[in-house]
Amino acid sequence: MPWRPMTVADLAPAFTLACAIHVDFFEALEVMTDKLAVYPAGCLTLEMPDGELSGYAVSHPYARGRVPKLNHLLGGLPADADIYYIHDIAIDAAARGRGHAETAVDLLAAHAGDAGFREVRLLSVNNSEAFWRRRGFSAVEDEHVDVTSYGLDAIYMRRIL
Ligand SMILES: CC(C)(COP(=O)(O)OP(=O)(O)OC[C@H]1O[C@@H](n2cnc3c(N)ncnc32)[C@H](O)[C@@H]1OP(=O)(O)O)[C@@H](O)C(=O)NCCC(=O)NCCS
Repeated sequence: MPWRPMTVADLAPAFTLACAIHVDFFEALEVMTDKLAVYPAGCLTLEMPDGELSGYAVSHPYARGRVPKLNHLLGGLPADADIYYIHDIAIDAAARGRGHAETAVDLLAAHAGDAGFREVRLLSVNNSEAFWRRRGFSAVEDEHVDVTSYGLDAIYMRRIL
């Protein structure tokens, strides 16, 4: 399986990929560095057989009803962490459609369950809602979450484990 734990050496190429993919959602290198330091178990790298970094996943425990602000340091996990939060899964365009993101969702959901969480949440952006729906996520309708830093079409979603 080409997914493996992210290392500090992956940060620079992962940041380059993030800048190319998330043109509307810039986050400084320090933000991914911070998330890797705070919760390394939630950060994965998609490495192809030729050694190319073709994707990454960043996730961590968080609190329901809140989302980490775009381009802000996490600085630590909330004391009241009660859900598992997928901050980002991004795959290089050339490597999409091969099930890599689906595998990452499975790995992170399994990790969340093993860590004792019963719910995975995320903000869907870039018209990725259908992708998440097909993986068991649905919109959280009954909570008002400040998603404004991610644009007006961001959707707060959850999957019960
Ligand atoms: C959303 C994103 C991560 C999906 O990545 P991906 O690797 O293409 O995803 P997958 O291959 O796992 O799934 C995509 C589709 O390919 C299909 N697929 C799976 N294995 C496949 C294979 N071997 N061959 C062809 N297609 C396959 C999946 O069934 C899936 O179809 P579905 O969505 O209709 O169910 C990717 O488009 C991306 O990086 N987008 C930009 C970043 C982004 O917006 N991330 C989400 C932030 S919330």
